[in-house]
Amino acid sequence: MSNSYLRLLFLLVLYIISANSSQPYEENYEDAEFTLQVPTLEDTDLDNLLSFSYYRKSCPQFESILHSKVKEWIKKDYTLAASLLRLHFHDCSVRGCDGSILLNHEGSERKSQVSKTLRGYEIIDDIKAEVEKQCPKTVSCADILTTASRDATVELGGPYWSVPYGRKDGKVSIDKEAEMVPMGHENITSLIEYFQSKGLNVLDLVVLSGAHTIGRTSCGSIQYRLYNYKGTGKPDPSLDTKYLNFLQRKCRWASEYVDLDATTPKKFDRMYYINLEKKMGLLTTDQLLYSDPRTSQLVSALTTSSVFEHQFAVSMSKFGVIDVLTGDDEGEIRTNCNFVNAY
Ligand code: HEM
Repeated sequence: MSNSYLRLLFLLVLYIISANSSQPYEENYEDAEFTLQVPTLEDTDLDNLLSFSYYRKSCPQFESILHSKVKEWIKKDYTLAASLLRLHFHDCSVRGCDGSILLNHEGSERKSQVSKTLRGYEIIDDIKAEVEKQCPKTVSCADILTTASRDATVELGGPYWSVPYGRKDGKVSIDKEAEMVPMGHENITSLIEYFQSKGLNVLDLVVLSGAHTIGRTSCGSIQYRLYNYKGTGKPDPSLDTKYLNFLQRKCRWASEYVDLDATTPKKFDRMYYINLEKKMGLLTTDQLLYSDPRTSQLVSALTTSSVFEHQFAVSMSKFGVIDVLTGDDEGEIRTNCNFVNAY
């Protein structure tokens, strides 16, 4: 989100406040006394807005601590980059980007069956511990996760986007709610509806699915495509034959892992879309993006030039501000990302 966009948003807020505080309608114009009420900066609660300079005074070292930690972890294990990005997706998908996925108590989202393969919590804990040492009770876990997923993307060659700060950490996390996150068996209509419910459009769906240019899935979750697809006794016909062969060899055990992007799994690039054109989409939901008329042309457009990288940054900026909590009464700054603060 650019500064000019934020400025525009701020002016819009001022405009709405001034419109609400205007004089009520008076029938007798001549007698009516009009006063123009211009709100001052003090009237406007700036704490309730996200801002790029939010930690500039309170924790100027936040971004560099986070950056070097993310770099260090990914250098040791590059697969953690994808895990961080997915963790952010699951966080924002339930109750907005509020760090609720990080809460580690009985019955929380993290404990749900569908969250079983989420990883990367230890990186967030490591960043948080260092940030707490240098700026106690200042930086939220939600901001840390959002920013870490951006830096992880960049580490694997993906685009950079600016993250505005000021998200508060939520205090509520419920395992059942995690089940609303798409898991790869949906049809395109329900994916479109799901994204729309988050304020995102079809382009965002196709572009954000491009995150599957990195990362992996367990063979168990795709084996149903390999032998007896929908009870036909045959593999999924939408799979390329050579790729099918490869998958049948690779996925003898459900516990094995297989790359979501068969061509350049360590690189954040547009190869994901090129694979879809070649019937090499690993998840059914990936491949459907190329066969459904509502999304196929977008897939084709994203195979060329650097449109994907640019648009991914734009869509992630939208994604990272879903239903954020900003007021003091809405959330808190957790001191440990695993638990709500004790009072
Ligand atoms: C469009 C709907 C989506 C569906 C149906 C979906 C589904 C999945 C599934 C089933 C996996 C494999 C999980 C496993 O077996 O462990 C996965 C992995 C992944 N997803 Fe998605 N996803 C979607 C959207 C997104 C979005 C919007 C992002 C991020 C912006 C994302 C990022 C990732 C990443 C990076 C991985 C790899 C994780 C790892 O290697 O640890 N996904 N996704």
